[in-house]
Amino acid sequence: MNNSTCDFKWIITPHEKKDLSAAKKMFPIEVSRTARRFHRQIPGYRMSPLVSLPNLATMFKVGGIWVKDEASRLELNSFKVLGGSFALYRFIQERLHISDEQMSYSYLISNEVKEKLGDITFASATDGNHGRGIAWAAQKLGHRCVIYVHSETSQRRIDAIRGYGATVKVIDGNYDDAVRQIVVDAKENGWEIISDTSWEGYSQIPTWIMQGYSTMMAEIQEQFSAQGITRPTHVFVQAGVGALAASVIGYYHSLCGENAPTCVVVEPEDAACLFASASTENREIRNVDGDLDTIMAGLACGSPSEIAWNVLRQTVDAFVTVPDYIAAKGMRVYATPLKGDPFIVSGESGAVTLGALLSILRENGADQLRDFLKIDEHSQILLINTEGNTDPVLFRQIIWEGSNPVPEEYWFDRE
Ligand SMILES: Cc1ncc(COP(=O)(O)O)c(C=O)c1O
Repeated sequence: MNNSTCDFKWIITPHEKKDLSAAKKMFPIEVSRTARRFHRQIPGYRMSPLVSLPNLATMFKVGGIWVKDEASRLELNSFKVLGGSFALYRFIQERLHISDEQMSYSYLISNEVKEKLGDITFASATDGNHGRGIAWAAQKLGHRCVIYVHSETSQRRIDAIRGYGATVKVIDGNYDDAVRQIVVDAKENGWEIISDTSWEGYSQIPTWIMQGYSTMMAEIQEQFSAQGITRPTHVFVQAGVGALAASVIGYYHSLCGENAPTCVVVEPEDAACLFASASTENREIRNVDGDLDTIMAGLACGSPSEIAWNVLRQTVDAFVTVPDYIAAKGMRVYATPLKGDPFIVSGESGAVTLGALLSILRENGADQLRDFLKIDEHSQILLINTEGNTDPVLFRQIIWEGSNPVPEEYWFDRE
């Protein structure tokens, strides 16, 4: 639904009864345990913080705003490495027919495994963070890695991927063009594609990637329970192809069934393929094309992941699309917190859910959405800061120089 007095759009997707089968199949609780057991063994692993913003919550009259802060995950500044590393683990495990019990991280990086596997080149298209995670994991395992990026990818993101020894090729067009090209080239060169998005006939590796993300939710639940909170009441997740959103939302629906939190997916307005899919009569997959122009580089995707959409179409309560300045506002609010709240470093894709939440809570035109979501002073709202400062130049432009300002009619303090 559009509301002319609001600067963002939403569609609510009420379910008579949610179909939990896809969520339960993809995210049985044992999977998050296996993923976490694997990630725990990686040198440098530690739980990322679950940060509370109590003063911001009071200001906006909600019970709690909780931020899972992935800015320093394994020094890669983003949650993405959890998926790529777990997929490589599963890939090797399957190739060598090794059980979970036999498969330790130290064995994974051993010469014995390398000799058994022979030379492998892992390949992926990326809008930045996924490629960085795959390059990092391939380097740890001693294998070659080729990453394709699209022409709008910033040099900083390309350099960061090269920093982990990967070959990076820039493809004309957008993220989806880079995906299409790598499929062709991988076939020709015998590369193994480790993609975070799925398509017909290619779903096993993206499934492992999504399952790898569930380490994050296992940590969140442990952190909530230490605060006496059973589960969040609301979850806001940002989406590109939807793999992260399906993982977070699928995990909670598998864990809590009909009592799962109310789940909202947030996308950039010019790259909103999940919103487009949700808008069809039977919630069928829809692509959006064009140059997918947004500052939210990690979310600039025009085609949903099919397996992610199977989970999302049955479980998401509302889809929201926002202009870029809402993400920029989220970054600034994180970076300049209210007195007493902690400071969080958040990049464009990481901060958009905070920007969206504050707009939903503040804008008069969003009453219908607010009523539907039933956010009130008892709500415990979970956001995920999916990346830290992954593009330092853009970060400075937004935080220091004030690029992407909020139009005056949407200022917080207005007449
Ligand atoms: C920082 C960040 N947040 C969120 C996402 C969205 O993930 P997905 O493409 O699985 O929807 C990405 C994807 O690259 C990302 O880099």
